[in-house]
Amino acid sequence: MHSSVWHPYTQMREWNSFDVIVKGKGMWLYDKKGDRLLDGVASMWCNVWGHSKDELVQAMVKQTKKLQHSSLFNLTNDKAEELAKIMVRLAPNMHKVFYSDDGSTAMEVSAKMALQYWQNRGEKKRTRFVTLENSYHGDTIGTMSLGYVPSFFSRYKSVLFSAIRATSPSSYRIPNGFTIKDFENHCLDRIEKTLSQNNNIAAFVMESGAQVAGGVNIYPDGFQSKISKLCKKHDVLYILDEIATGLGRLGSMVEYQAQKSTPDIVAFGKMLTAGYLPLATTLASKKVYDAFLGQYQDMRHFFHGHTFTGNPLACATAITNLALYKKYNILSKVKKSSAYLQSRVDEISELDIVGDVRHKGMLMGIELVSNKARKTPISPQKRIYQKIFNEAKKHKIYLRTLGHIVMLVPPLAISERELEFLVDGTIDTIKNVSQKIL
Ligand SMILES: Cc1ncc(COP(=O)(O)O)c(C=O)c1O
Repeated sequence: MHSSVWHPYTQMREWNSFDVIVKGKGMWLYDKKGDRLLDGVASMWCNVWGHSKDELVQAMVKQTKKLQHSSLFNLTNDKAEELAKIMVRLAPNMHKVFYSDDGSTAMEVSAKMALQYWQNRGEKKRTRFVTLENSYHGDTIGTMSLGYVPSFFSRYKSVLFSAIRATSPSSYRIPNGFTIKDFENHCLDRIEKTLSQNNNIAAFVMESGAQVAGGVNIYPDGFQSKISKLCKKHDVLYILDEIATGLGRLGSMVEYQAQKSTPDIVAFGKMLTAGYLPLATTLASKKVYDAFLGQYQDMRHFFHGHTFTGNPLACATAITNLALYKKYNILSKVKKSSAYLQSRVDEISELDIVGDVRHKGMLMGIELVSNKARKTPISPQKRIYQKIFNEAKKHKIYLRTLGHIVMLVPPLAISERELEFLVDGTIDTIKNVSQKIL
């Protein structure tokens, strides 16, 4: 079939045909012929209930008949108001909600907010960001500058702004002579030095709970809370990115609460609308928000906005979605499913090409290596992402790898039977691929 679509992160010459998905029902995606694949990556980590969940579809239909879009420039709308109230009730210490369309824009908003916060307070030299190595915050110029994954973004380096990158303690690759605890303390010491020796820092930015796209690195207990304290101590804004890790993915609604940390600014997206419509939010504390208040001529107001900021259809969907979280007690379901995933970790770890399995909640990263002892990542030359994808399809599952890491990120509400099907299929997929490449 001739297609005019250019796909993301895809060598188009190699992928000359794509499965055309025409329907989603429950955890399954269906093509034109009626063949189905289990959605093992929650359609890029955003699906909560599976596809075509009746309550959500009804909510969308109801709102579509009333108001599809009206802007937040000089007006407001009932659904944007209602959702913002729900969000500030959900997220401790947060005071106002700024709407945007996706995770990247929500993180752009957070960076601009931090920069202008300091300008409004007369501290104009505070323009630098400290971030963690291997963090990922989106694909726009600003967010690539913050979350710089070298293999993704090196081509754009010349136009990115320079951020100060601190080492984050990976549990898999610990420097010689260090325990994980030593490594964590070493990273924290360096971060403290950076914060104390530079007086031009606007904010410290990190993913909350775990780095996802940068390799599924789950922080050691207490790491995030200590950084939160360091930011307070050195009067630096603390920005958290919960786009991929909040709203239940790691087992708690608000991951920063579970991590005993307190951001000044925090972003949510992806699962906010259960993965049905694009919507993201950047929440600000009262301290941040108040710095933007004044007379119009002071020009202290926030210079940011999008056409679809606060889209009522997306907001109505998010309101219903968050109500369903309570109605179905999704967090207790996540707890059970997470325990099941954990029970399979040893079995996965023993596979020939698996170097490490990192898991928390409904997120699992399976790192594929060509040499277990040396922890050598499988080379991109092996086209592992394509081999895994094609093999997984034979097992009726949709998997997407990130480099050499197989991602299991199913919809939160996946049933026990389907989760077992997903893990079994993933194991068989890795076994079969390993036979082909070793
Ligand atoms: C932690 C994190 N932040 C930001 C983003 C960017 O979100 P989006 O793809 O919706 O722009 C992602 C996307 O995967 C993410 O994982």
